[in-house]
Parts: sequence; C-alpha cells; structure tokens
Amino acid sequence: MLKNAVVLRQAVSNVRGCLSTSSRHVQSSATTSTKVKVDARNSELLDRILRVDHAGEVGADMIYAGQLAVLGRTKVGHVIQEMRDQEVHHRETFEKLINQYRARPTALLPLWNVAGFVLGAGTALLGSQAAMACTVAVETTIGQHYNNQIRELMEKHPGEFTELLQTLKQFRDEELEHLDTGLKHDAEQAPAYRALTKVIQTGCKAAIWISEKV
Ligand SMILES: [Fe+2]
Ligand SMILES: [Fe+2]
Repeated sequence: MLKNAVVLRQAVSNVRGCLSTSSRHVQSSATTSTKVKVDARNSELLDRILRVDHAGEVGADMIYAGQLAVLGRTKVGHVIQEMRDQEVHHRETFEKLINQYRARPTALLPLWNVAGFVLGAGTALLGSQAAMACTVAVETTIGQHYNNQIRELMEKHPGEFTELLQTLKQFRDEELEHLDTGLKHDAEQAPAYRALTKVIQTGCKAAIWISEKV
C-alpha cells in the first residue's frame, strides 16, 4: 500500500504541474467563465462529476460516522472525528454545487448511506487498525478518482470550471491527508491488511462506476 501511496503522490504532482502550467490560461478566462451560466443539463461531464462526487462524499461521511459509532470513545476517536468534519464539509459543498449547476443526484443515496455506515462500523469492529486500513483503501481510491476528474476537466474544458477545479484540488489534498492519517495510525498492522484494502478498493471503484451512471 505504501507503494500505492507513492504512485498516487506521483500522479498528484503530475496533475499539480498541469494545474500550474495552465493557470495563466485559467485565470485569464476566469472573468469570462463567471459570466456564462453553466448548467449541468448541458454538460454530461459536469453532471457526472457532481453526481458521483456527491455520492462519494455521502459515503465517506457515513463511513466515518460508522467508525465513530464504534471507536468514538477510544484514543483514535478525535482523529476520526476530525476526518469526518472534513467529509461533512465536502458533502455539503457538493450538495450546494448540485443545486447550483442543476445536476442530477444519484438515485442510490439511500444505499450509499447504509453501505458507508456498515463499512465504517464493520471495519471498526475489527479494531482501530482495520478502521484505518479502511481509510487508507477508501482515500487512495478517492484521491485517484479526483485526480482523474481534474485531468479530464482540464483536457476537455481548458480554462473553464475554475472554481470547481479549485474545489476538486482542495478536496483531493484533504483525502490524501486522510490517507496519511490512516498510515500514521498503523493501518498496515491490520489483520489481513492487503486482502482487506483490496476488497474495499474494489467495492469503492464499483460504487464510483455505478454512481456515475445511476
Ligand atoms: Fe471527502
Ligand atoms: Fe476523506
């Protein structure tokens, strides 16, 4: 997983490079883009991004809620609470963006609410290291997911969606901090760490795939 984290960081730095080299172009057209009324109903990409990110942040919020229900009063409780506070902010931000751009939310929100909580509480019941392994698995996948979106947005809409890009970049960085937090709190000492993270990452990728469409 450390290798995965290194690979992910390399991808992050590549995207950061792209962001800085194109920032002049982005800034020069920022004034123009704020004048244009963007509507997700006219952009399949924007609609898809907002739907899946909102779904993902709902799931993340509930994963940490599940972990807190089990581990809230242990020594890692405050660490999990801090990560959840950020997920709540991410979730609320995408709720606003979905309304602002009139995107279609996923029909599967009730499922992600339950699945997220069960995943969080289930891994926490295996112990704090397993909960942190869950965090590492989820945040690795979400970090890669945000990077892919940043790259796709910049390629297909150069100079557009500057505020959204900034939000994606900020949230990507915060997810990577959560990944670091998981590693710092002995995620790799969890029982069956490799199998556990592999299963969770596969589940996350499936959830992303479904939420982009449904
Ligand atoms: Fe998040
Ligand atoms: Fe996160």
